[in-house]
Amino acid sequence: MSLLSVENLRVAFPSDHGPVEVVKGLSFDLGRERLGIVGESGSGKSMTGRAVMGLIGKPARVTADRLEFEGQDLRALSERQFRRLRGARMSMVLQDPKFSLNPVIRIGEQIAEALEFHTGLTARQRRVKVLEALEAVRIDDPERVARLFPHEVSGGMGQRVMIAMMVVMEPALMIADEPTSALDVSVRGQVLDIMDDLVRRRGMGLMLISHDLNMVARWCDRILVMYQGRIVEELGAGQLGAAQHPYTRGLLASVPRIDEDRDRLPVLDRAALGACQ
Ligand SMILES: Nc1ncnc2c1ncn2[C@@H]1O[C@H](COP(=O)(O)OP(=O)(O)OP(=O)(O)O)[C@@H](O)[C@H]1O
Ligand SMILES: [Mg+2]
Repeated sequence: MSLLSVENLRVAFPSDHGPVEVVKGLSFDLGRERLGIVGESGSGKSMTGRAVMGLIGKPARVTADRLEFEGQDLRALSERQFRRLRGARMSMVLQDPKFSLNPVIRIGEQIAEALEFHTGLTARQRRVKVLEALEAVRIDDPERVARLFPHEVSGGMGQRVMIAMMVVMEPALMIADEPTSALDVSVRGQVLDIMDDLVRRRGMGLMLISHDLNMVARWCDRILVMYQGRIVEELGAGQLGAAQHPYTRGLLASVPRIDEDRDRLPVLDRAALGACQ
């Protein structure tokens, strides 16, 4: 059974000229695997992730023929039921920990808060879990880091704290929206590695949202390529070379290579793209 099953997902915003769809009938399944969602800015990646998490409010409208998570119909959930599910069974990691961590609460306490909200653990049990979660994201000195405030840690460590915050609940599904875009390349590898480990060892499903096709292709089991609110291509790991859609091929061609001497990068041919929609 798949973890998440999405059929004909649509997200629309009202406008003066009637509703404008930004997600246009997406269908996909996610198992205990790493699924990458790539596409240019504005293609609807974040809206898709947020719709699954029940995080799109008015005036936007979300509809689907099916939106099922662990056999539960998400469309039927009240806001209160969704809140129980979020953070416990499904979690989201965002681009910049600065906006997601509370600056005035110590890191350890922030991680413990989720446990307090969702479980009946005692303070002592929560503390053990917090340290374990920090260890799971490879923080060497969890006791010390738990006592720090968010501004006292680096961006990379902040991102690992964010992941620890989710991991502590042992969610079945993690949606990571550009989790590494704000990090430098070496830290990026570490963070991806940690998430990878969690998928393998804990059997979690991961949806990795990014505009970086090559990064996603290296890390994911499967890739969905989005363009203007639709999935235009689905690729297995290592199948980038077999990409058919002009948009995907355009993306690949526009990646600069270090061993190449080119004056100009190729530009996506939007006229050709329009013709094949
Ligand atoms: N409040 C809003 N009202 C109207 N349109 C919106 C609103 N919020 C987002 N959109 C539109 O929805 C579309 C999809 O946005 P989304 O954030 O999902 O893109 P994305 O693929 O995540 O892009 P990025 O790579 O820049 O994060 C965009 O065209 C955006 O302009
Ligand atoms: Mg986005």
